[in-house]
Amino acid sequence: MLRSRFITFWNATVQPDPLFSPLKLGALELKHRVVMAPMTRMRSAQPGNVPHALNAEYYGQRASEGGLLITEATDITPQAQGYRGTPGLYTAEQIAGWRAVTDAVHAKGGVIVSQIWHVGRISHSSLQPNGALPVGPSAVRPAGDHTNASGQSVPFETPRALEENELAGIVADFVAAARNAQEAGFDGVEVHGANGYLLDQFLRNGSNQRTDRYGGSVENRARLLLEVVDAVIAVLGAPHVGVRLSPWNGFNDMFDSEGEALWNYLAAELDKRDLAYLHVVEPRSDFTTDLPVNDSAPDAAGHFKAIFKGSLISTGGYVAETARAAVADTRAHAIGFGRLFIGNPDLPERLRIGATLTRQDRATFYGGDHRGYTDYAFHEDASLSCPA
Ligand SMILES: Cc1cc2nc3c(=O)[nH]c(=O)nc-3n(C[C@H](O)[C@H](O)[C@H](O)COP(=O)(O)O)c2cc1C
Repeated sequence: MLRSRFITFWNATVQPDPLFSPLKLGALELKHRVVMAPMTRMRSAQPGNVPHALNAEYYGQRASEGGLLITEATDITPQAQGYRGTPGLYTAEQIAGWRAVTDAVHAKGGVIVSQIWHVGRISHSSLQPNGALPVGPSAVRPAGDHTNASGQSVPFETPRALEENELAGIVADFVAAARNAQEAGFDGVEVHGANGYLLDQFLRNGSNQRTDRYGGSVENRARLLLEVVDAVIAVLGAPHVGVRLSPWNGFNDMFDSEGEALWNYLAAELDKRDLAYLHVVEPRSDFTTDLPVNDSAPDAAGHFKAIFKGSLISTGGYVAETARAAVADTRAHAIGFGRLFIGNPDLPERLRIGATLTRQDRATFYGGDHRGYTDYAFHEDASLSCPA
C-alpha cells in the first residue's frame, strides 16, 4: 500500500493542485492531468483479436470526467501482432468492439485515444500470417526469448528486412488504423514510436543497418516515423495526433550509438507539426520489474522540453508527489501512470484526495480473465475483491 503525503501540503497551503488544473492537448480537452498510460493486457476475444465487453468494462472503470486514457497498443494489421490476445483495429468486428469501449469512456465524460502499433521484429512466425518471419528494418535478431503463439518461450528469430518498396504500405496501414480509430469513436490516436517496436527499430542504429533512404543518418532513420506521423495527421488533423517515444530506453534490445543527436532531431522535427502532444517514456523506470526508479538516468521530458515547445506527457515511475512536482515546475504538461492505474481504477480521484493506493498484481498483467483486470476495488467500495 502506498500513501500520498503531498496532498496535505497542497491542502494546507490552499494552493491549486497542479495535477487537477484543466489542460488542452490539441483537440483533447482535459479537466486534469492524470493520464492513463498505454498498457498491453492481452485480453481480446478470440478468434479475431476483438475488443469485447470485458475490455469496455475495464476502460469504463478507469474513465473520469475530463481524464485522458491511452489504450493498450493496438495492432494495425495481422503482421503488426507480436503477442497473443492483443486487440487489432483492422476488421469491422474490432471497430465495433472498440466502439463499445469509447462509448463506455465517453459516458463518464472521459477522453480516449488509440495507441496504434506495429511490433516489427518483436514477434514470432507462429503469430504471423502464413507463418512468415517477423519483419524489421534489418535482419538483426533481438537478443533473448519471446513467447510464441502456444505460450512457450522460444528464442527470437532473425527478422526479414523490409524492402524499401514495402514501406509505403506500412505507412498506409497506420493511416487505415487511424481512420478506423475515428470510426470507432476515438478522440485521437497515439503513434507508437517507443519501446523497441517497428518505428523505434527504424530510429536506432542497433536494429537499423539499412543503406537506403531509411537507414544510416539520423534523418534517414527518423524518416519512417515522420512519414507515418505526417500521413496520420493528413487524415485526422494534428490536434488529434500524439506520438510516443522512449528516448535512451533499452527495452526490447534497443541501442543507438548517437542517442542525443537522434532525440534532438526528432524533438525539432515533431515541434514543427503542432501535435496534440508528445509522450515520452522516462528511462529511469523499468516497468518489467518493481525496482525503484534509477535517478541517475537521463531526464527525457526535461531534455525534450528544451527543443519541443508543444505539450508533453511524461510517464515512468511517477507517484503523486513527483507527478505534482513535474507539472508544477513545468517539466511536463501531464503525467502518465501505468502500473498504478492497473490496481486503482479510480486513480485520479485517489490522487486528488490522497486515498490509499492498491498495489497491482504482476501475475495477472498479461492475459487471463477479469481477475487482476476489472476486479480491483474503487476506494469507496472495499467489498470488491482486491488482488493485492
Ligand atoms: C502491463 C504493462 C503493459 C504495457 N504495455 C504498453 C503498451 O502497450 N504500449 C506502451 O507504449 N507502453 C506500454 N507499457 C509501458 C507503460 O505505458 C509505462 O510507460 C510504464 O509502465 C511506466 O509507467 P509506470 O511507472 O507508471 O508504470 C506497459 C506497461 C505495463 C506495466
